[in-house]
Amino acid sequence: MSSQAVRLVVLVSGSGTNLQALLDAAADPAYGAEVVAVGADRDGIEGLARAERAGVPTFVERLADHPARDDWDRALAGRIAGHRPDLVVCAGFMKILGTPTLSAFPVLNTHPALLPAFPGAHGVRDALAYGVRVTGCTVMLADAGVDTGPIIAQEAVPVLDDDDEAALHERIKTVERGLLVGVVGRMAREGWTVTGRNFRFGRAGR
Ligand code: GRF
Repeated sequence: MSSQAVRLVVLVSGSGTNLQALLDAAADPAYGAEVVAVGADRDGIEGLARAERAGVPTFVERLADHPARDDWDRALAGRIAGHRPDLVVCAGFMKILGTPTLSAFPVLNTHPALLPAFPGAHGVRDALAYGVRVTGCTVMLADAGVDTGPIIAQEAVPVLDDDDEAALHERIKTVERGLLVGVVGRMAREGWTVTGRNFRFGRAGR
């Protein structure tokens, strides 16, 4: 791992296949980013096991262990800050982050639908129920809303006649992993600017 690499803290709540894609990409020093820690809001998930297998430090901060959401928000931000990230990546992290984290670090999120359509925890199910013929995935900056931050990149995935939620989500995730790895790598190597809702790769003044 290079000392020049952008430091990523990745947050997960589930199987961690997006995390795995980042770990695999970061194995190449030319990628420009390294995963310095993986955090979760629950124990016993494959995402944490993936980090442990890769030798990456992990931490768990459970909402239920705190008297109020604000306390959890502050505790989580403290755990993240301890790893001095340049960028925080929510990769299937099923909680909305609060101000302590959002004000301290740039945060990326990934969502399995073409925002602003079908935000929230059931983007794949909601798209299927609506009957859209094309859905996809979105990588965006996180803000205080539910999937409302500036959009960085999107990719479409067709809905097939015999799709159920699991099959469609798997095809979306195949695309989503590539999109996320591409975005994080470009942010690490090129920097970025945000003007209002408009995200652009590249540092200001170039
Ligand atoms: C992804 O589709 C993500 O967008 C959604 O949950 C899935 C996480 O998958 N919120 P994984 O844990 O990275 O395999």
